[in-house]
Amino acid sequence: MCSIIGYRGKNSAAPILVNGLQRMEYRGYDSVGIATKSKNQILLRKGVGKVVEVNNAIQLDKLPGNIGIGHTRWATHGKVTEQNAHPHSSNSGKIAIVHNGIIENFEELKSNLQKKGFDFHSETDTEVIANLIQLNFDEAPDVKQAIIKTVAQLKGHYSFVVIFEDGTIVGARFHEPLIVGVGKNSYYLSSDVLGFIEKTDDAIYLDNEDFVILNDAGIHIFGFDGSSVKYQITKVSKEFADVYKGDYAHFTIKEISEQPDSILQAGNNDQIQQFVDGVKQAKNLYITGSGTSYNAAEIAKYLMSKFAKIKINTVIASELAFSPDDIEQNSTLVAISQSGESADVLEAVKIAKESNASILSIVNHLNSSLSQESSLVIGLNCGPEIGVAATKSFTSQLTILYKITDKLCNGCINPDWEKVSSMVSQILSNHSKIKEIAKDLKEVSDIYVLGRGIHLPIAREAALKLKELSYIHAEAIAGGELKHGPLALMDSNVYVIIINPNDSTYNDTLNTAHEIKARGAKIIGISDKESDVYDYWVEIPTIDESLYPIIEIIPIQLLAYYSALEKKTNPDYPRNLAKSVTVK
Ligand code: BG6
Repeated sequence: MCSIIGYRGKNSAAPILVNGLQRMEYRGYDSVGIATKSKNQILLRKGVGKVVEVNNAIQLDKLPGNIGIGHTRWATHGKVTEQNAHPHSSNSGKIAIVHNGIIENFEELKSNLQKKGFDFHSETDTEVIANLIQLNFDEAPDVKQAIIKTVAQLKGHYSFVVIFEDGTIVGARFHEPLIVGVGKNSYYLSSDVLGFIEKTDDAIYLDNEDFVILNDAGIHIFGFDGSSVKYQITKVSKEFADVYKGDYAHFTIKEISEQPDSILQAGNNDQIQQFVDGVKQAKNLYITGSGTSYNAAEIAKYLMSKFAKIKINTVIASELAFSPDDIEQNSTLVAISQSGESADVLEAVKIAKESNASILSIVNHLNSSLSQESSLVIGLNCGPEIGVAATKSFTSQLTILYKITDKLCNGCINPDWEKVSSMVSQILSNHSKIKEIAKDLKEVSDIYVLGRGIHLPIAREAALKLKELSYIHAEAIAGGELKHGPLALMDSNVYVIIINPNDSTYNDTLNTAHEIKARGAKIIGISDKESDVYDYWVEIPTIDESLYPIIEIIPIQLLAYYSALEKKTNPDYPRNLAKSVTVK
């Protein structure tokens, strides 16, 4: 996802901007640029590629001036080209802008501006905002009024930071995160605290429909209606500064390896008790998420139904808008999201709230948009998850869902988390078998992951990990569904991962494995029990059968990671993907 950075202070802006963008690289991007103000001129440099590459090529960090803005772009409108990279300047060159999100009415605005004589040099919606601000500023040279007029004309979800040639910087937020960092005689603007956390942990989280003006007079925050906004400075938790890989090769393997600890940190008891009270009062319960978080929602459905006898409707966040049945009035929606910024989840929450639903959320980023929309939040407490493919956040989500279910059924599961943690450590202690399998998967074009019951959402999560990290086509199959179609695909070119712990699904799934084996496919068995039907046996420890989901996903996360290394993809930043998709 795109990243925004801005700086106004006593030091040279360019190095601060470049460093801030590098700290946010995990969000995914394909081009980078910065603009600074020097001697009443706006200077701009930008290019396609990684920050370090573009900086080596055109010395981004050498631009003069102590006021500037920067951006890494994840292409939405327009191809990945230098012209489309941000910042974009207005026709007069007196204004430059960086922007996250989408302006839905940009064509209409663009043609109106073209009729007024404006030229455009890119395919982006961003350039339209720059010229619209210029038009409004030229008509009435007052920054605040120009911004108020401009945002009133924009449709869509966006945040932008604009620099004027006199050094004024303005940041506006409408459903896309934008945070002000407050330093000593300096201000930062960023879409992520990581953009300035090294410089200050004092932050002002702009609300929706707020804009901030930074100029020689200091800082002023207004609503889109022009009203003055009182703000408070909050401390950003220092843990978000801990985003170095340490001695790990990638964030992904670091975060997979942190799971013995993150599982033990997941969720705090007071929040969980309040959450349980909220669930008990619910008339109708829904649970939603996107990607990996949705797979966690599917596990929740199973747990709550089986152990707490509570029916909960799962809905893919991006599907709620197209669901044939409306959410009943006064329902409760549980929203799961690591970032708390996934546009699909925020959209689902918006729809639910239109039916007066109360929102309970399970989030890693407690200052996120989702947290702001929720009446109750349980924090994952798993620390920053930088790798684009969710790993530790998933097992933290599961842990919290188990804790909620266990309270709802008065301790009927009673998980021994120390034991779970040590079993995860045990699996993580030896990667050799997994590395061997990853080597054999290198040339494979199709992998199937089969699971039954509670292992089916884990099979889906496994398939998603393999797609995200190794780019191998991977598909989850419900065990019993194999013979209703997918069996036709089984031949000697196919690998099938069978999730088969020794629980109530074991015998049926073992029979299914034999059916597959008979067609020549290779079988990778994830189980605490060996069988000659497996071409590869990935052993997991035996545990209370209700807890296998947390254990069995670990070797598959490792397999997806080592497959990525074999395929020479970049596990931390998979192509085309972003850590948090903040556009619909
Ligand atoms: C995707 C991420 O963009 O969004 C996935 O790459 C993640 O890892 C999904 O599961 C949902 O994100 P979140 O932050 O809402 O859990």
